[in-house]
Amino acid sequence: MSRVFSGIQPTGNIHIGNYLGALKQFVDLQDEHDCIYCIVDHHAITVPKSAEELSESIMNVAALYLAVGIDPKKSIVFVQSDVPAHAELGWILTCSSTTGELSRMTQFKQKSKERESVPTGLFTYPALMAADILLYDTGIVPVGDDQKQHIELTRDLALRVNGKYGEDTFIVPEGRYMKSGARVMSLVDPTSKMSKSDENEFSRISLMDTPAKIKKAIMRATTDSDGIIKYDIENKPGISNLLSIYSAFTGKTVEALEQQYDGAGYGTLKKDLVEVVVESLAPIQEKYNEIRHSEELVKILKDGAERADAIAQETMKRVKKNFGLGIRL
Ligand code: AMP
Ligand code: TRP
Repeated sequence: MSRVFSGIQPTGNIHIGNYLGALKQFVDLQDEHDCIYCIVDHHAITVPKSAEELSESIMNVAALYLAVGIDPKKSIVFVQSDVPAHAELGWILTCSSTTGELSRMTQFKQKSKERESVPTGLFTYPALMAADILLYDTGIVPVGDDQKQHIELTRDLALRVNGKYGEDTFIVPEGRYMKSGARVMSLVDPTSKMSKSDENEFSRISLMDTPAKIKKAIMRATTDSDGIIKYDIENKPGISNLLSIYSAFTGKTVEALEQQYDGAGYGTLKKDLVEVVVESLAPIQEKYNEIRHSEELVKILKDGAERADAIAQETMKRVKKNFGLGIRL
């Protein structure tokens, strides 16, 4: 049975892109796999933020994990910085990566373009992500397809280390990308991805948004003006995005939706989509409010960290031995 590992950054505004591209798969995988879900707070400090904001976001994401249906009896849920081996293996893999390959990461290129001085962590981040994954002998990594390049790098690093230090060092993992919803686009600019950090809040639907906010965001979502409801990413990115969100939430195929809304007009499609999204998020929001400030949440995270740490320490023993690190008689 392959182990599953994935992580989400605690950086506020978890949105339906995160849900449809990642969280929903996390839940589906629990029944058939041994799953580990991490709140990757070390990744979040690649772009500095205040202590209050960070710790608030960590607990928010933890509560959302449980609210969407991750079951701590089946899966391990924990905070990255509670297991020190992530940073330790992160360093080892930083040393196994090259500046050339890290410079080619599109996420790095994008994120560094916007700033005058680029934090080093932003550059070495994919090596830390590889460590997160390889630390648990992971077979499957469910993510949105914006992470493909990082997963490929993780595989490259694992193969490189195995070739040099022994084939038993790492399991080479595979990414698992969801079809519908793998790439949810901004509601304002449907040619760019829905993002936590877009300053326009109407570009996204956050999981904790009120029905009024959801309605506003969808009703004003950017579309073309020819009025034809058809999936065509090239020429109709706005309508295509709405159709794929609709499809991902309901399980109806895009073709079925095109037929259902044939001749109906954008207003009707949007109104129905508001209902679909509001109804899908309601039970998540209810569970979230129940657990967010509970002792139980703290207990689940502490227990998760202990279990994760035990697995991580076993891997570190093997890695250190293969690399020749530490004391040996
Ligand atoms: P991040 O927001 O970068 O921490 O991403 C957390 C997870 O959500 C990752 O697996 C991403 O691939 C996924 N994700 C982020 N934005 C989107 C999006 N707009 N559409 C689909 N998946 C996304
Ligand atoms: N880089 C991922 C993102 O931005 C988050 C992440 C960090 C992750 N470590 C991971 C995802 C390990 C999967 C596995 O979305």
